[in-house]
Amino acid sequence: MPEAHTHFARTTITAALPYTNGPIHIGHLAGVYVPADIYSRYLRLKHHPVLFVCGSDEHGVAIPMKAKKEGVSPQALIDKYHGIIKKSFADFGIAFDNYSRTSAQVHHQTASDFFKTLHGNDDFIEEVSEQLYDPEARQFLADRFVVGTCPKCGHTEAYGDQCENCGSSLNATDLIGPRSVISGAAPVLKNTRHWFLPLDRYEGFLKDWILEGHKEDWKPNVYGQCKSWIDDGLKPRAVTRDLDWGIPVPLEGAGGKVLYVWFDAPIGYISSTKEWAALEGQDWKPWWQSEDTRLLHFIGKDNIVFHCIIFPTMLKAHGGYILPDNVPANEFLNLEGQKLSTSRNWAVWLHEYLEEFPGMQDVLRYTLTANAPETKDNDFTWKDFQARNNNELVAILGNFVNRVTVLTHKYLDGQIAAPGTLTENDRVTLTEIREYPARIGNSLDRFRFREASQELMNLARLGNKYLADEEPWKVVKQAPQRAATILYVGLQVAAALAVLSEPFLPFTAQKLRAILNAEAADALPGWDAIASTEALLPEGHTIGETQLLFRKIEDSEIQAQLDKLEATKKSNAMSESQAAPQKDTITYDDFSKLDLRVGTILEAEKMPKAKKLIVMKVDTGIDTRTIVSGIAEHFQPEQLIGKQVTVLVNLAPRPLRGVESQGMILLAEDKDGKLVFVGPDGTPVANGSPIT
Ligand code: MF3
Ligand code: ZN
Repeated sequence: MPEAHTHFARTTITAALPYTNGPIHIGHLAGVYVPADIYSRYLRLKHHPVLFVCGSDEHGVAIPMKAKKEGVSPQALIDKYHGIIKKSFADFGIAFDNYSRTSAQVHHQTASDFFKTLHGNDDFIEEVSEQLYDPEARQFLADRFVVGTCPKCGHTEAYGDQCENCGSSLNATDLIGPRSVISGAAPVLKNTRHWFLPLDRYEGFLKDWILEGHKEDWKPNVYGQCKSWIDDGLKPRAVTRDLDWGIPVPLEGAGGKVLYVWFDAPIGYISSTKEWAALEGQDWKPWWQSEDTRLLHFIGKDNIVFHCIIFPTMLKAHGGYILPDNVPANEFLNLEGQKLSTSRNWAVWLHEYLEEFPGMQDVLRYTLTANAPETKDNDFTWKDFQARNNNELVAILGNFVNRVTVLTHKYLDGQIAAPGTLTENDRVTLTEIREYPARIGNSLDRFRFREASQELMNLARLGNKYLADEEPWKVVKQAPQRAATILYVGLQVAAALAVLSEPFLPFTAQKLRAILNAEAADALPGWDAIASTEALLPEGHTIGETQLLFRKIEDSEIQAQLDKLEATKKSNAMSESQAAPQKDTITYDDFSKLDLRVGTILEAEKMPKAKKLIVMKVDTGIDTRTIVSGIAEHFQPEQLIGKQVTVLVNLAPRPLRGVESQGMILLAEDKDGKLVFVGPDGTPVANGSPIT
């Protein structure tokens, strides 16, 4: 399968359309956008025609739900996140040819036409069936508007269309004990008419095309998911919803119904292509309808069924469209050992990263590539981010480029000298440079981005090792001509790095070209030409000013990020802690019997031979009295002295281990059952924590 693109005239590359219900985080980047961008840039460097399209996914239940949560209209919500997402992609160097959105007119038109064509071909089953309906909110409960227990794995928070725990795709009516997310009510069943795509009719086609046709070239995780879907037996799937947000079903009498988001969104790839074509004065059709076009979908694993089964079935039913040649889906990235989550704010947000680490896009690109969740879920840690930067980008790549260019300025005024007689080591090194385009390319052709990024780093290692072996800084004293030759060879490595790093580290490649005074595209040979070019930078060429490609990342910067995550953890724990149900109502008279006073603890010591008890002297304002309390497992006596507490002063005195306790101090119990003070001196406690 190497160089699969050479069998085609052009390649259409799509990256999953992100939902506009939140910003982009590192999970999206590692799984989808960074690999798609690397691959597109690689093909462009190989002079293969590429169209790389994406856009915002602005329909579906997730949008009105999030809008409600933020207290804004769905339109305001999608405008906000579309803006943030589009800008952060651009600032991060994701080089889409077009970034569109599914609220665009061209998309509504394209998706409606697509639906009408399938409808006209009799490709849908039209059926009245009982669906979940919220009697309080008076609306049908599609997809994420209903949660319940997954019939497959028992997860209690499964959505109406999908269980995120086991990955099963569900019908809302499959859920056990469903409840409305809108009102909390138990839904009732109500009849409604919908259109279904009969996937079962396409079983033969899917078996031939995927199970027979792509056994060898699709990634095992992708192939495996498809196989289990097909083996489980395909069922008709509803492609319409009772909802007031989305693309209206373009049929008479279908008022109040919209296209299912997973019907319209993938068509967004086509609409984005049309939008691009109109802007560029090009024809969109070859990119989707010519058999000599290669179609690639970059996605995360939760999107596999939609891109490998449902969308291809739609394309097949429509006719005239090409099918994906490959769908290199990735697994998931975790963050510091926990699943990334938009709603729980457990993420590194791209727009925040760009602000906090200005000019350091490539560091994140590199870390996410070197650690990409290609064959299994993977973990992003800030420590690893720091190590990849300090030990690889700074210490290997940056250091090599710095050494060779600084020495060239120092010994040769920045001008590349004619090489003298080449030694064996020179020749081996020059030959090895020429092998790198194929080496890195082979990995990229197989969508092995981690491996490819390590090959790139190996090229920098080659340069470093060469300099360390040849020691031009020593040689220069006795044999300046030999030192010039060494720098000549070293600069060839640097020049190769400037070209081959571009897909992975586009900002660095640009900087490196400036350092080498080779900014024009044709100032260096292209990707493939490196293999056959004698001198990438010729003798007589003067390099530009040296600058550092990377800077060290300090421990304090990493600690700041870890602190930020720790704060998120705390605030999640507080909002997720379940308050105990309220006790029976009491009258004001009942309450007024309690005499609660603010007191200050003057003395505290452990009760001898009692594990739990502490004896305190408390100034209640009325008097100073002794109070015995079972808090020795929660506090050291010295932590109590001087603290103000609420004291119940009229509790009947009672003896505890022979000491009379004359009241009770009130403390809060946090979610782990630990007693704490409430207020500025104490640990914050969730509202609703019992005062005990
Ligand atoms: N918005 C979806 C997600 O984030 C992906 C949509 S991909 C498309 O999971 F094909 F539908 F566009
Ligand atoms: Zn499940």
